[in-house]
Amino acid sequence: MRVLVTGGAGYIGSHVAALLHERGDRVRVVDNLSKGHPLAVRGLELIQADLRRPEEVEAALAGGPWDAVIHLAGSSLVGESVANPALYYENNVVAGYHLLEAVRRHQIPYVVFSSTAAVYGEPERVPIVEEEPANPTNPYGATKLAFEGMLRWYEEAYGVRWVSLRYFNVAGADPDRGLGEDHRPETHLIPILLEVALGQRPSFQIYGDDYPTPDGTCIRDYIHVLDLAEAHLLALDHLARGGPSRIYNLGNGAGFSVREVYEAAVRVTGRPIPLEVGPRRPGDPPVLVASAERARRELGWVPRRPSVEAMIESAWRWRLAHPQGYPAPSHGKPDSPATPAAPPLPEGLARRQETKPDGRYLIYYEFPGKESAGPGEGGEEGEGHV
Ligand SMILES: NC(=O)c1ccc[n+]([C@@H]2O[C@H](COP(=O)([O-])OP(=O)(O)OC[C@H]3O[C@@H](n4cnc5c(N)ncnc54)[C@H](O)[C@@H]3O)[C@@H](O)[C@H]2O)c1
Repeated sequence: MRVLVTGGAGYIGSHVAALLHERGDRVRVVDNLSKGHPLAVRGLELIQADLRRPEEVEAALAGGPWDAVIHLAGSSLVGESVANPALYYENNVVAGYHLLEAVRRHQIPYVVFSSTAAVYGEPERVPIVEEEPANPTNPYGATKLAFEGMLRWYEEAYGVRWVSLRYFNVAGADPDRGLGEDHRPETHLIPILLEVALGQRPSFQIYGDDYPTPDGTCIRDYIHVLDLAEAHLLALDHLARGGPSRIYNLGNGAGFSVREVYEAAVRVTGRPIPLEVGPRRPGDPPVLVASAERARRELGWVPRRPSVEAMIESAWRWRLAHPQGYPAPSHGKPDSPATPAAPPLPEGLARRQETKPDGRYLIYYEFPGKESAGPGEGGEEGEGHV
């Protein structure tokens, strides 16, 4: 298959893209590198494009036809979404609209979407099944749900078929392929524990140990990033063999308490991890665990790495090899990825790039004969990753 992976330079997308490539699919990663890392895209085509800009989306799709888009690009910090909902509507809904419009124009038949458990809000029943009413309690969940709604109506009107994968907490790494988790800022439990074990943070904080759970700490569902990546491939296969559009929860069904994860991190790393117990955070439900029965039954998905130790062990191995996360790319050195190719542009549109002395760059898109768009008026300003 010929597959576009948006957000493929990010944590989950880089693992998905690597597995697709290994099984023989043609993969093009489309990422604006706002959070992603060029070194997470090894040996694959990487197009730097921002989905919020329709002309860049169009340029990124050149050279098709494409059979599918796996859409992982987006913003995903709950707290940030509450403080700045406009960013989330722009990056998760407006950008999603530009992508779906391009999907429609190019008649790309399938979309697999990275949704989230945050669409459920505070569910009434656990394990959470897909029939649980979606009732997001923050703009992050609301914008993911809005994109799911767009998918439904685009199918109805234009025949785009889709799968939406609602993930819970994703963890682990693939150190053998040189892939790991490097979010900046880091907000996820396991990488934070590992940063404390490495002495990069002073201590680990548990938010509340008086919940109605066996050890008093919150219980969450964790899924290994490689199990998750495999689910994306199965979702694509499901669509390709004529399966209907569908929502699937992905989680390992069991759940681990925060204290269990903490103790596993101490065991796996063999290092001291100073612990502090603080007050509860508002809005944290005691137990959030998914039922992934539908994915097991219909996609044949089996999480093969369900133990939290396996997740921590793989993340730890990657982290020991990359204590500061992914390095900035170094052109010309042996392990640098291929320099991202500038995409062929739609007829009439030209792209011009200027690199400033400090390494920052400006990209201009212009229609010959018209005045070029400066960076503040439709151009793009970047940090000079590539
Ligand atoms: N990590 C988790 O535990 C988790 C859980 C549930 C859902 N998800 C969802 O999975 C997806 C991937 O998560 P992740 O942890 O890999 O995040 P990530 O931040 O590592 O990856 C997202 C990628 O999208 C890119 N991107 C963002 N906005 C873009 C834009 N406008 N145009 C082009 N590229 C853009 C970023 O540069 C980054 O490489 C997200 O959509 C997230 O909502 C993640």
